[in-house]
Amino acid sequence: MATIISNRRVAEGIYVMHAAGRFEAKAGQFFMVRGWESYPLLSRPLSVYDQDEQGVKFLYKVAGEGTELLSRMQAGEDVTLLGPLGNGFPAAAGRTALVGGGIGVAPLFYAARHLEQADLYLGYSVEVYEEYEFRSIGHPVTIDCGGRVLDLVDFDAYDTVFVCGPEPMLRAAQIKSAMSAGKAAVYVSLENRMACGIGACLVCSVGCENGRKKACSDGPVFRAEEVVLA
Ligand SMILES: Cc1cc2nc3c(=O)[nH]c(=O)nc-3n(C[C@H](O)[C@H](O)[C@H](O)COP(=O)(O)OP(=O)(O)OC[C@H]3O[C@@H](n4cnc5c(N)ncnc54)[C@H](O)[C@@H]3O)c2cc1C
Ligand code: FES
Repeated sequence: MATIISNRRVAEGIYVMHAAGRFEAKAGQFFMVRGWESYPLLSRPLSVYDQDEQGVKFLYKVAGEGTELLSRMQAGEDVTLLGPLGNGFPAAAGRTALVGGGIGVAPLFYAARHLEQADLYLGYSVEVYEEYEFRSIGHPVTIDCGGRVLDLVDFDAYDTVFVCGPEPMLRAAQIKSAMSAGKAAVYVSLENRMACGIGACLVCSVGCENGRKKACSDGPVFRAEEVVLA
């Protein structure tokens, strides 16, 4: 159990929850989160948005029942957290770009905070949120609202590119990576549906070049050329 320190609305349908506890999460890892007893049955996976001496933060979008319930929770109430889970982002070598689309910007904040150099590309569909927080890290930030943020990134200018966002964006990143000169190591962070989060149920199974893998325990971060996206 982790007690909620704050749970604030930062844009329409977007919240930041800060939950107390001592965790040692790596950027790109996630927690299975629940704020209810028995229904909905499954906990929901949320990436680590930030971590401080008080606890862990989640930046989340209300998508359905589970996240709606989380958004109604108040400071002082308890959430159940399982994690940190997943592999997280690998060590970034050389010039690095962090590219997020929609709520896919969430894991990039903590990643950016731990990199000496990184260019951030953040794409939003309607409303920009957490801009001040991202800019306060001190890295260059490019924001796109309503367009295709990936189009603004020259993969050939980077050694490492991390991409997190909706599946069409990840597919576009795969194509862009394949068409580039091939210098950059490109990684995508998947947001497959999950049930157990710990590699036990196969709900998150994803096709990869060497057979099927589990997005929760083998990922959620994969090399772009490794995964087969539907
Ligand atoms: C590793 C990982 C990290 C994630 N990190 C974040 C995060 O930091 N912030 C955040 O807001 N969300 C994140 N997500 C997505 C989040 O887990 C889902 O939005 C959430 O589980 C939806 O639960 P719900 O009960 O609100 O919606 P549900 O009632 O379960 O579903 C509502 C709608 O959303 C769709 N949906 C549900 N889950 C997903 C999914 N994983 N991908 C695409 N569509 C889905 C359903 O098909 C349905 O149409 C992450 C997912 C994964 C796997
Ligand atoms: S969610 Fe159960 S194996 Fe990945």
